[in-house]
Amino acid sequence: MAKPKPSFMDTIVSLCKRRGFVFQASEIYGGIGNTYDYGPLGVELLRHVKDAWWNRMVTAREDVVGLDSAIIQNPEVWRTSGHVDGFSDPLVDCRACKARFRADKLDEAVCPEKPSKRAGEFEKCDLTEPRSFNLMFKTNIGALEDSSSVAYLRPETAQGIFLNFLNVLNSSRMKPPFGIAQIGKSFRNEITPGNFVFRTREFEQAEMEYFVPPAESDEWYEHWKKVRFDWYVELGIDPAKLRMRDHDAGELAHYSTACVDIEYEYPFGWGELEGIACRSDFDLKRHSEASGTKLEYFDPQTKEHYTPYVIEPAGGINRMALTFLIDAYEEEVLEKDTRVVLRFHPEIAPITVAVFPLVKKDGMPEKAQELVQELRLARFSTFYDEKSAIGRRYRRQDEVGTPFCVTIDGDTLSDGIVTVRNRDSMEQDRIPMGEVVTYLHAAVREWQRPERASRTGEREPLPQ
Ligand code: GAP
Repeated sequence: MAKPKPSFMDTIVSLCKRRGFVFQASEIYGGIGNTYDYGPLGVELLRHVKDAWWNRMVTAREDVVGLDSAIIQNPEVWRTSGHVDGFSDPLVDCRACKARFRADKLDEAVCPEKPSKRAGEFEKCDLTEPRSFNLMFKTNIGALEDSSSVAYLRPETAQGIFLNFLNVLNSSRMKPPFGIAQIGKSFRNEITPGNFVFRTREFEQAEMEYFVPPAESDEWYEHWKKVRFDWYVELGIDPAKLRMRDHDAGELAHYSTACVDIEYEYPFGWGELEGIACRSDFDLKRHSEASGTKLEYFDPQTKEHYTPYVIEPAGGINRMALTFLIDAYEEEVLEKDTRVVLRFHPEIAPITVAVFPLVKKDGMPEKAQELVQELRLARFSTFYDEKSAIGRRYRRQDEVGTPFCVTIDGDTLSDGIVTVRNRDSMEQDRIPMGEVVTYLHAAVREWQRPERASRTGEREPLPQ
């Protein structure tokens, strides 16, 4: 019998493992649920996503500064923020198989004993009444393991920003409207199956709290919705697969007065990529009341103290990386075969440029290494490869999304000319080796995503 064709998500998961993007965590011990490790190319992808976010949100702006706050804070923080009482999912147990599911995500649940049976198909009497389950991971601080030593791993980076509002205000001469940005790990004891790295227990968030005079909050909410949506499109994501979805009143988190999700159409359906929320003055006011320290701004013009409103764009770095990967994947049908290519934006690609000696002799490897050193000095993520036929080396780079390959051949040693091969068009330019850095800077700046090829198996359901 013919093997069933892998689904699109299967293809992505297997490419990630084969080429060293993502591995199952604790794999040799049988794994651990919803937890993954990132391999050599995966860390470069994450790093480039973080750099692109930081560049757009902090470096390119006058009005946003950075922060790196602690993961474990005083547990009072989480009581005040509402997470101890309110950060929970409603869970139900299946009486037949004893598995636990999220009551609000039953359409994603699968009975482990009867994988063909998806919840939604569960008989009502199979399930217990929903019970609330807090998502925060608990730990203990110090030598005692009693209730007085309980602490939490942060479930969002945002609170660390609110705690440092005054510190930043007093140390950096910022005044509203201004923002504080942070990238860092957050932890949630997620119960639902994660769809690979889409939903994991440990993940990196990129969040920015933008503090504004209350009267300006609507205007800034619109500003940040646009900036964040455009950021994905500028980095090559297909706008036809992106949409903005407003939360209705029942969906809003306890702290927000308005929220929109930027959603992407994943192979498993539309899903939240990033949220932009108006958190009003909820957090600063709550922390002011609970701590006794007034988290306010004194406006020297009006001589009044006020609590700023907050607009918060909050995304997950791992989810962004997965989205860039899925969106970049194409199988391009050529005359003789099909090539797999990840059409990453050059800023996002794990490797920006690969350097090859045409053959491993006659001084070509040495010349190629000279170029590698120059490219590394210019801070390009550079990969050197001298093994196997040149065509195969190109294809290996296509599959991991390297936008440029430079080949040193016999002539380079006499005339100094190298060949730059473009991943997307597969066209080749012959240019002097001394001009490669300038050429690449321009090519990265001017990159445009070519028309999209179809992707086989994209609409097939996820394996369970
Ligand atoms: N401070 C607001 C906040 O944390 P959220 O919608 O819960 O809002 C923001 O999280 C983003 O963090 C999400 O849009 C998603 O990209 C990412 N995220 C949340 N939970 C995640 C998880 N379990 N695994 C991976 N990413 C997650």
